[in-house]
Amino acid sequence: MAKNKPSNKPSKSGPSKASASKGTETSSVETPTGNAPDIDIGISGGDRKKIAEGLARFLSDSFTLYLKTHNFHWNVTGSMFNTLHTMFETQYNEQWMALDETAERIRALGFNAPGSYAEFIRLTSIPEEPGLSDTADWREMVRQLVVGNEAVARTARKVLKTADDAGDDPTVDLMTQRLQVHEKNAWMLRSLLQ
Ligand SMILES: [Fe+2]
Repeated sequence: MAKNKPSNKPSKSGPSKASASKGTETSSVETPTGNAPDIDIGISGGDRKKIAEGLARFLSDSFTLYLKTHNFHWNVTGSMFNTLHTMFETQYNEQWMALDETAERIRALGFNAPGSYAEFIRLTSIPEEPGLSDTADWREMVRQLVVGNEAVARTARKVLKTADDAGDDPTVDLMTQRLQVHEKNAWMLRSLLQ
């Protein structure tokens, strides 16, 4: 059992190194076990760590897209206001629920979930694009959400592969569901611009 037990020490990717390679490394820390028995669910500690790190990046992408979608729900203007105000609300509500599922999967694998803006900014692959609150150009908002949904889908696809290789069916299932949602969102949003 000991051979699969990962270290409780933080990974070697400290803040300075991680910030130099944004989006490719995490600082996932395995939750201290205290007096509890070691996690023994049939997935090695190394695989659990790899999956948890992927899920941490996925959670960061998902939170960033969630916030962007909610921002645009608030700030959209113009002839498309009713359509987009409602569409964005439907999307951010669905995304909000999925954040919890993702974070709790990381916890079930034995790792701490990122939950601060600093961590999300460090781990996400979706760039901040400030200034839209001033212009509120709905086409630019929709374009950014197409790109954002596709970025989340790409990250989900990578995590799915890692989880599948490790026989982690619950994570495969979760990533499959998220792919369906984000690819559908991207299609619907893109259709507005065609
Ligand atoms: Fe609202």
